[in-house]
Amino acid sequence: MKIIEIGTLFLCFSVFFSSSFTISYAKLFTPRFPSSIIKAEQLSVSAKSNNGNKLYRAKYFTQILDHFNFNPASYQTFQHRYLINDTYWGGPEKNSPIFVYTGNEGDIEWFAQNTGFMFDIAPSFKALLVFIEHRFYGKSIPFGGNKDIAYSNATTLGYLTSTQALADYATLILDLKKNLTAVDSPVVVFGGSYGGMLAAWFRLKYPHVAIGALASSAPILNFENITSPYSFNNIITRDFRSESENCYKVIKGSWEQIDDTASQPGGLDLLRKSFKICKNYIDADALEGWLRTAFVYTAMTDYPIPTNFLNPLPAYPVKQMCKAIDDPATGNDTFAKLYGAANIYYNYTGSATCNDLADDSPDPHGLDMWVWQACTEMIMPTSGNNKESIFPESQWSYARRAEWCNDSYGIDPRPIWITTVFGGHDIYRALKRYGSNIIFFNGLRDPWSGGGVLKNISESIVAIVAEKGAHHVDLRYATSEDPKWLQDVREREVNIISNWISQYYHDLAQDNL
Ligand SMILES: *[C@@H]1O[C@H](CO)[C@@H](O)[C@H](O)[C@H]1NC(C)=O
Ligand SMILES: *[C@@H]1O[C@H](CO)[C@@H](O)[C@H](O)[C@H]1NC(C)=O
Ligand SMILES: *[C@@H]1O[C@H](CO)[C@@H](O)[C@H](O)[C@H]1NC(C)=O
Ligand SMILES: *[C@@H]1O[C@H](CO)[C@@H](O)[C@H](O)[C@H]1NC(C)=O
Ligand SMILES: *[C@@H]1O[C@H](CO)[C@@H](O)[C@H](O)[C@H]1NC(C)=O
Ligand SMILES: *[C@@H]1O[C@H](CO)[C@@H](O)[C@H](O)[C@H]1NC(C)=O
Ligand SMILES: *[C@@H]1O[C@H](CO)[C@@H](O)[C@H](O)[C@H]1NC(C)=O
Ligand SMILES: *[C@@H]1O[C@H](CO)[C@@H](O)[C@H](O)[C@H]1NC(C)=O
Repeated sequence: MKIIEIGTLFLCFSVFFSSSFTISYAKLFTPRFPSSIIKAEQLSVSAKSNNGNKLYRAKYFTQILDHFNFNPASYQTFQHRYLINDTYWGGPEKNSPIFVYTGNEGDIEWFAQNTGFMFDIAPSFKALLVFIEHRFYGKSIPFGGNKDIAYSNATTLGYLTSTQALADYATLILDLKKNLTAVDSPVVVFGGSYGGMLAAWFRLKYPHVAIGALASSAPILNFENITSPYSFNNIITRDFRSESENCYKVIKGSWEQIDDTASQPGGLDLLRKSFKICKNYIDADALEGWLRTAFVYTAMTDYPIPTNFLNPLPAYPVKQMCKAIDDPATGNDTFAKLYGAANIYYNYTGSATCNDLADDSPDPHGLDMWVWQACTEMIMPTSGNNKESIFPESQWSYARRAEWCNDSYGIDPRPIWITTVFGGHDIYRALKRYGSNIIFFNGLRDPWSGGGVLKNISESIVAIVAEKGAHHVDLRYATSEDPKWLQDVREREVNIISNWISQYYHDLAQDNL
């Protein structure tokens, strides 16, 4: 199997496809989402609290397109969306805090709905909640909101960068505080995944705007050679292996078996039947990519409670997948075992009629432009597989990424830009005496945790590490089924944030003497 990984993910999202997989150009720009994933219309349905109220109101702000260029001829603006909830806010008179989510690569409504933690803690902090969308995603599309223009080529996409996004956040927050006459209200930023990276970087670059950051599952060290390119898949391997050695072996052995079967007469038909693949499209690489997606995303979202983040999933889905694989009823039938595992990721609700390998329905989370980011700044080597990997052995290749980016956009990535602008090398030494008030949360079940900050850097730049945690699990709504370790993580985060705010009020009172 030759899998080439292109627009690595984030947040979740890895785009895997094979060199021989003939798919439309447009498809290359869209992470492959299974048809069973929540669709856009479900977003608005779930955008309500338990009592049926809307969770937030959407507002638009006239944002500057290029914060770093003063040429009047190139001055342009765009409509920048943010969501706001003032139900719990103590108001400006009391300088009550403002909690801001620094949006990542997708529709901000989706992130707001998956960041229940902020809603959960807002009442006790009397906090205003603000979720700011990342430019070029959701409804925050420059060039008149026209995606056809905004996404056309490097001339327009050139404005899609993390530094521009951070400047957007600073500009919007300062203007909002002025409008609310809440200039002295402390701001705390929150984010998960790429949003968590942005939150951490925001605190480092704009300490006068945010007093602290909760950076959840933020792999800020997954650049250049800082983190091994094998780390990501090693963690996935460890996750499945921790459930059972048989589970690991069956998955590991399956890739060759699929290749062998596909190459025999009638083999593809057999695979189609075994995996209930729709009639329109099948080949071995596409099938393997589809299975791999299920394993990667299930490892990332291996939450201790049932969730509907990427797909509807039961609690501890990796365990459930391995249970299907270890099921004695499937005997030695590898395909039946893998089908059972894949069914958990793609068909937990039981509503899938067939599995569509060529599904190119629009990605409901609006993650379309991550591929551009993965071709410019976000060169995060994660696709290496060593001998022990649950996936076939392969090397991460920068040259392959660069070639793809040149073919697609005519651009050359800048793999050292992120570490140049935000740092990363020797981060413990660099930040030990610089910066403060950042929480780095990581769950060790999460493949991204290998690129996270796992050790305390200083008194106030701290790492919270949960052995059983997955991708930004702390940011989800609390539930009555949450395990003790998760309750403890959130309690620590709340205590730390509350200390930041007390210290801020103390300093403010001193200033006002
Ligand atoms: C804020 O969120 C709560 C749910 O946590 C909801 O009940 C309330 O209606 C929301 N307020 C606004 C103004 O959207
Ligand atoms: C890039 O896209 C813009 C907007 O659609 C268009 O005006 C311009 O001609 C394109 N440039 C190139 C080099 O294709
Ligand atoms: C602040 O108020 C001005 C004037 O009403 C408005 O144009 C602007 O969008 C507001 N800023 C934000 C962040 O909503
Ligand atoms: C990473 O390390 C390899 C081997 O030491 C070296 O060839 C390469 O230039 C390094 N790349 C970066 C971006 O530091
Ligand atoms: C699988 O089991 C069947 C009978 O249960 C047996 O005939 C076959 O040889 C086994 N195949 C392998 C690969 O072990
Ligand atoms: C999805 O699950 C339902 C219920 O178990 C089953 O009838 C259906 O065949 C499954 N669909 C696919 C594509 O496997
Ligand atoms: C893209 O590839 C072409 C052909 O190899 C090369 O001439 C060009 O310099 C490359 N462009 C960039 C931006 O690297
Ligand atoms: C960080 O320091 C705190 C005490 O301040 C400690 O409880 C915690 O275990 C440390 N975290 C790590 C990952 O070592």
